[in-house]
Amino acid sequence: KKKLPLFGKQLLVTAGPTYEAIDPVRFIGNHSSGKMGFALADELASLGADVTLIAGPTAQISKYKSIKRINVTSAADMLQECLTYFPAANACVMCAAVADYTPATVSAQKIKKHDDGLNIELKKTTDILKTLGGQKRDGQVLVGFALETQNEEQYAIEKLEKKNLDLIVLNSLNDAGAGFKGDTNKITLIDRQLHKTTFDLKNKAEVAHDICIKLIELLKK
Ligand code: C5P
Repeated sequence: KKKLPLFGKQLLVTAGPTYEAIDPVRFIGNHSSGKMGFALADELASLGADVTLIAGPTAQISKYKSIKRINVTSAADMLQECLTYFPAANACVMCAAVADYTPATVSAQKIKKHDDGLNIELKKTTDILKTLGGQKRDGQVLVGFALETQNEEQYAIEKLEKKNLDLIVLNSLNDAGAGFKGDTNKITLIDRQLHKTTFDLKNKAEVAHDICIKLIELLKK
């Protein structure tokens, strides 16, 4: 076990969507399946890492009992858990599709149907990844994801810089078979030196392996 490349390393992974409550029965969510994040957690564990997986609502199940799974619902819950586990982490891979906006107030009772339309006021959530980027210590490696539909590389590089990341994983909704819906993904990795590597379409377990190889290299620096 000691020979595994991530033996003794603490890894924090986020996965899945977040649900933002509107009232006791309704929420705002997104199409994230959690598959990419769970594939990453499994791959990291198989490479010897101690993995903590903070997961939004998803039907995914980890392959390894050693993975410490923490279930959360909202972006605010996910932030709290990330702040708890980040200080001890050697590296952190933020795969979750965190809501950018949440209802400004949550109705205590089910909102009744009326004849008029309905406006729901939204406020911004805290950007978890950017918050962690601001707290990052020397030697900690922080990896983010970018799912874009246009100007993919430019937006990904902006995110890498704004959020103080060491690596960004770009997946485009324009590539067939990539993104949040299926079992495959097609990624481009961009590091701080803006060194860019584009991979073929692969299943998410193989994509996770490619990301882990780069992560191991970054942890050695
Ligand atoms: O800026 P954008 O949301 O596109 O960035 C995506 C990356 O940021 C992902 O790694 C995602 O997990 C993370 N993120 C976050 N908290 C948010 C929004 C995004 O950690 N509130």
